[in-house]
Amino acid sequence: MTSRTPERVLITGATGFLGSWIVSALIGRGIPVIATDINDDHSRLNALCPDLPEGMVERRICDITDAKALDALITETRPTGIIHLAALQIPVCREKPAAGAAVNVGGHINIFEAARKHAIRRIIYTSSIAAKPRGEANAPSNLYGVFKKADEEIARIYWQDHQMPSLGLRPYIVYGVGRDDGETSAITRAIEAAALGRRYEIPFATRSCFQYVGDIAEVFVRAVRSDWQGALISDVSDRVNSIDEVLEAIRSVVTDAQITSAAQERISPDTGFDTAPLRQVIGDWQETPLVEGVRKTVELYRAIDTRRHETQTL
Ligand SMILES: NC(=O)c1ccc[n+]([C@@H]2O[C@H](COP(=O)([O-])OP(=O)(O)OC[C@H]3O[C@@H](n4cnc5c(N)ncnc54)[C@H](O)[C@@H]3O)[C@@H](O)[C@H]2O)c1
Repeated sequence: MTSRTPERVLITGATGFLGSWIVSALIGRGIPVIATDINDDHSRLNALCPDLPEGMVERRICDITDAKALDALITETRPTGIIHLAALQIPVCREKPAAGAAVNVGGHINIFEAARKHAIRRIIYTSSIAAKPRGEANAPSNLYGVFKKADEEIARIYWQDHQMPSLGLRPYIVYGVGRDDGETSAITRAIEAAALGRRYEIPFATRSCFQYVGDIAEVFVRAVRSDWQGALISDVSDRVNSIDEVLEAIRSVVTDAQITSAAQERISPDTGFDTAPLRQVIGDWQETPLVEGVRKTVELYRAIDTRRHETQTL
């Protein structure tokens, strides 16, 4: 069921990798966006949408740890849905745990409080596969995962105490143009290197869900236009591939690619994925096959590189 009020989506972390793709996908559907982030570097979005339609994106600086500023922004802009992506990644959470908790947990609570106060009933946030229990402790294996798990529990309590629906999505290794931060950005770096004729070694081997960013953006756009009950948490894929299959896909698109992977094993869950909660909200969706996702990414990196050269020679 879709909303009757004019749609207007507020995104946190909008200048980031997923944020830029989701903003681009929303605009593509004619949905206006309030794109908020702590920084105003929109270069990823500009690379994806060089001809951004006028008036579709309102860019606002907002630090999600500042509850008052967030509340003021929501009071002013009156979004019909919130896509909450802002977070610090694994290395920063490891090096600066207090900052990690302030943004990834405190900021998450601020979003939920603001949504509760303003009766916004479409909140989609990114949890992570890192929140899934694993290993001997049967628990998240790093602080980032602990914070994301806490976010899922916070969402559950907001449903229990305030009947506030939410949807937490757990992307796994997302690849695509603009992914340049975080440990698993190595997959995108490998594709970029292949596209531009450079050597690259992926510093680990693993079995994982490798998800094309365009699919993730599509899922968020469909979810933020839907209604549901409960604090749902969902995986976004259950298709598992090995690093060797990723390398094969890269070589099938760029036959002379000089891409390898190190033997260092990166342990990740590779079973027990459940996409049913997401299907309950948006119905079925098609996952882009690995080779196709690699091909799209190679083509986009080459197009951006050509544009960059053309601008430099003007
Ligand atoms: N990319 C992936 O493979 C992946 C996988 C699982 C989960 N996730 C989650 O998805 C979300 C988006 O990931 P991404 O890859 O786009 O990350 P990203 O690092 O590219 O983007 C995160 C954005 O959050 C912003 N931010 C940081 N602190 C902030 C603050 N205090 N206030 C406002 N904004 C702030 C950053 O400036 C950045 O633009 C994150 O929550 C991440 O944990 C990503």
